[in-house]
This record gives sequence, C-alpha cells and structure tokens, in this order.
Amino acid sequence: MASERTLVIVKPDGVQRGLVGEIISRLERRGLRIVALDFRVIDPAVSSVHYAEHRGKPFYAGLVEYIGSGPSVIMVLEGPDVIRAVRTTVGVTNPAEAAAGTIRGDLGLERGRNLIHASDGAESASREIDLFFGDRMPLSYERDIDRWIVE
Ligand code: RTP
Ligand code: MG
Repeated sequence: MASERTLVIVKPDGVQRGLVGEIISRLERRGLRIVALDFRVIDPAVSSVHYAEHRGKPFYAGLVEYIGSGPSVIMVLEGPDVIRAVRTTVGVTNPAEAAAGTIRGDLGLERGRNLIHASDGAESASREIDLFFGDRMPLSYERDIDRWIVE
C-alpha cells in the first residue's frame, strides 16, 4: 500500500504529565516514520480553524482553551494506511470507553483530557498538515529498516 501521512498532536495534558516519550514511542514502535516535529503553544487562530467542525457545540470553548493551555508536540507521521493505523492506536474519543492497549485507554480517563489528536481521514490529514506546518513541509527520507516493516 502507498505511504500516506497523518497529523498527530500530543496535547498539553500529555506534555504536562510527561507522556511525550511514551506516546511517541508507541507510534514509532508500530514502524511509523516521523517526517515533521514541532513543540509549541497552539495559537487560538490555529485551533479555531483546526476545531472549526466543533464550533457552536457546548464543549467548544473548553476545547480551544484546553488545546492552548500549554505546549503541545505536533508531528507528521508517515506509513502505509497510517491514518487508520494511528486512530486505532489512539483509541476512541472518550478514554473511559477506549480499549485497553490504546493510548487513550491505557493513559487517560476523560474525554476533555484525552492526551492526543490524530487526523480522521485523508482530507483532514492534508488540511491539518498544511495548517500546522504550512511552508515547512515534512521531510522525505528512507530508513534502512523500512524493508523489514513494509513489504
Ligand atoms: P481529536 O480530533 O482530538 O483527535 O479527537 P476525536 O477525533 O477522537 O474527537 P472529535 O469528535 O474530533 O472531538 C475533538 C476533541 O473535542 C473534545 N470533545 N469533547 N465533551 C464532549 O462531548 C467532547 N467531545 C469531544 C475531545 O478532546 C476530542 O478529542
Ligand atoms: Mg477529531
């Protein structure tokens, strides 16, 4: 399968709880390749575009406040079927319902502190990569080990 890219954010609660290494490690160990990485406080101008689909919902104000409440780690990951693979590893939105073995299911408790974001489809991945990385486009490179991960 052709390689694709997805946008992942370790949200401020993940950074504050010292889970950045744990979360990146779980994704890296799946065989995914990091092609862009940044550490910054997400500006409201960016989060309001990123979460535009939720504008008007009761949790929207809290969501924008939460995502900008401290630094986040923002990255682009690459691999075959990566969008689906990462969503599976992340788990469902509410950590209380997320399966054991997923990031949210193992490390979180509440929907409003669910540690990580991952793009939910090809269109959102492309839009989000552009929103967060813009002109600093992700790198293209190969690793010697890739032939042992991808057919
Ligand atoms: P994300 O976009 O952060 O990867 O999460 P998701 O796809 O699993 O969930 P989504 O429906 O896109 O919601 C975005 C974020 O909004 C918060 N949320 N709170 N209180 C609520 O009912 C509620 N619903 C959603 C969560 O932080 C969720 O990750
Ligand atoms: Mg979402």
